[in-house]
Amino acid sequence: MVFTPVLSAHWDEPDSFTIDGYTRHCGYEALTKALAMQPDDLISLVKDSGLRGRGGAGFPTGMKWGFIPQGPEGQGAKSHYLVVNADESEPGTCKDVPFMMANPHALVEGVAIASYAIRANHAFIYVRGEVVHVIRRLQEAVQQAYAAGHLGKNIHGSGYDLEVLVHAGAGAYICGEETALLDSLEGYRGQPRLRPPFPATHGLYASPTVVNNVESIASVPSIVLGGAEWFASMGTEKSKGYTLYSLSGHVTKPGQYEAPLGITLRQLLELSGGMREGRTLKFWTPGGSSTPLLTADHLDVPLDYEAVSAVGSMLGTKALQCFDDTTCVVRAVLRWTEFYAHESCGKCTPCREGTYWMVQILERLEAGDATEADIDTLLDTCDNIFGRSFCALGDGATSPIVSGVQLFRDEFTQHLTSGGCPFDPAASTVFAGVSSAGVTA
Ligand SMILES: Cc1cc2nc3c(=O)[nH]c(=O)nc-3n(C[C@H](O)[C@H](O)[C@H](O)COP(=O)(O)O)c2cc1C
Ligand code: SF4
Repeated sequence: MVFTPVLSAHWDEPDSFTIDGYTRHCGYEALTKALAMQPDDLISLVKDSGLRGRGGAGFPTGMKWGFIPQGPEGQGAKSHYLVVNADESEPGTCKDVPFMMANPHALVEGVAIASYAIRANHAFIYVRGEVVHVIRRLQEAVQQAYAAGHLGKNIHGSGYDLEVLVHAGAGAYICGEETALLDSLEGYRGQPRLRPPFPATHGLYASPTVVNNVESIASVPSIVLGGAEWFASMGTEKSKGYTLYSLSGHVTKPGQYEAPLGITLRQLLELSGGMREGRTLKFWTPGGSSTPLLTADHLDVPLDYEAVSAVGSMLGTKALQCFDDTTCVVRAVLRWTEFYAHESCGKCTPCREGTYWMVQILERLEAGDATEADIDTLLDTCDNIFGRSFCALGDGATSPIVSGVQLFRDEFTQHLTSGGCPFDPAASTVFAGVSSAGVTA
């Protein structure tokens, strides 16, 4: 497999985040090229590239843009909006934050191109509230782009105007769900909206809106410069292009690894020095804590949308959290469930009540103060949440529990027979830094 980093190509340069560092490597040339094209042709280009949303669900980006009722703004039509989802809060998911720190101008340029394509004159970047350093960096990048004429009035002399606003959220995982994000951006309490109608027609201020992940939008300038064919030449049949895989946990060299879709965890572990010395892989998440756990049996599964779902999980955000044989799966699952209970927005009963009760049961199980029937009650609770919740947070909360019990039921039972956790918590460092807000160390 050939590795030619695109998104992360210049992260190691000391000024990669500045406008000078970005323009040195063809920065904002894609915007000039895009502004010379018709908006519909840009949408077709992104459709042809096969780019799929990098925020978790893998929805085709060009198709999403095509859902916006096209036609000029004004003349009685509603304004269109682009909203970038930079709320990254899922445990294990840690690609957008380093991306925005190292290369914020690729996002800003992508915002300008995408806004032009969907005929929007206003764009918002909704950033997770806790990452103040990222908010500052993005604000600086946006100011630099305005000063250089890449944003604002008559961009590059094209007659196209765009205002971009960086908005800081207040630190709620649910505000990453796109409709809760829109409510929050409008100033309401961030809770998911009933769909339909979808954001494409009734999004921000009940107007046509595209919500895209940071990485999805930041991939657009390279597609405009390199072409759809070039982008589609990487990856697998239905999962095209390159992406950021985030390796964390008990790996020797955790970090961001950019590779074409379809690389395997075995290959990524080879690049990252493998599991920490003397230890073996026990379980891992392919795309954050909402995606069902996999084991060492899945090391050779191509990490694309189709192959990962074929083995019963989801590619999600490509957040590969790797846990070695020192990790207690019950403890890990409890920590994730505490996160979901804390972050449940409370709008629907299955998730609000269910996540609370699952924490109680898991606490008893971890302490060895439960019965075998509690394991079944736990699974039954998951059954009553999955598919019955108002949004995908509820479904996601069941993933680590159901897959954890399926793969390691013996270990759950062992806690009961040995009257507590058989693992030495000091040996496993991964969960040492987990707070109730779910930030992994
Ligand atoms: C609870 C929850 C949290 C989410 N958090 C994020 C997030 O932080 N960033 C993100 O891009 N998508 C997040 N999503 C997915 C978004 O709803 C949406 O699908 C995504 O922003 C679309 O962008 P994309 O098509 O470019 O992937 C979340 C979804 C749910 C249910
Ligand atoms: S599933 Fe959870 S987070 Fe989603 S609406 Fe219901 S209570 Fe809120």
